[in-house]
Amino acid sequence: KRAAALAAMTYIDESEVLGVGTGSTVNHLIDLIKEKRLYLKGAVSSSEASTARLKAIGVPVLDLNTVGSIGVYIDGADEATQNRHLIKGGGGALTREKIIAATAQKFVCIADSSKLVPVLGAFPLPVEVIPMAQSYVARVLAGMGGQPRLRVNAQGEKFITDNGNVILDVSGLNLTDAAGVESQINQIVGVATVGLFARRPADVLLVANPDGS
Ligand code: A5P
Repeated sequence: KRAAALAAMTYIDESEVLGVGTGSTVNHLIDLIKEKRLYLKGAVSSSEASTARLKAIGVPVLDLNTVGSIGVYIDGADEATQNRHLIKGGGGALTREKIIAATAQKFVCIADSSKLVPVLGAFPLPVEVIPMAQSYVARVLAGMGGQPRLRVNAQGEKFITDNGNVILDVSGLNLTDAAGVESQINQIVGVATVGLFARRPADVLLVANPDGS
């Protein structure tokens, strides 16, 4: 994870606002920004957790609405294919991640080789849902052949996203046509975001091998 994060450093321009994702791989990136003494103009963050880490190392965290478009966005993934389609949202930050990806000119995905798959779908697909629509959306997803499961936190309570929503983790969907399924799930009323990044895939995928290459 650290090797992938290190490789992504070459994409960072200190004079531009950087889009920063969420997760253990991105945490290495934030550590490296501190270690290498980069002085970023600012960052837009995809989660409260990353915001806290960025602020702790002195990076100004900006509101996306005051920034406009972003040059480079760096984030991890739960699964990735060679054509840079991704499943994201294992950390629950998928909605803000998708918003930042949409505004970024270049989306650099960083991952260790365990994330690289021939076809997406072994990792349950995260779907962020407005709480009131939880049962309805679950029924529609089941009708599509999926097995939705409400995400709970370590205490066994409903997992609530930074946006106040719940997450259904969906197994069993055929994701061969990832962009098609992404559009289909986007159409379900009550869905905030589906964690498929196929319609707007990563532009660059940096995969680190166990030997650090
Ligand atoms: C956060 O919601 C996710 O999209 C993360 O990008 C993804 O889960 C990767 O996390 P790790 O870097 O911890 O594997």
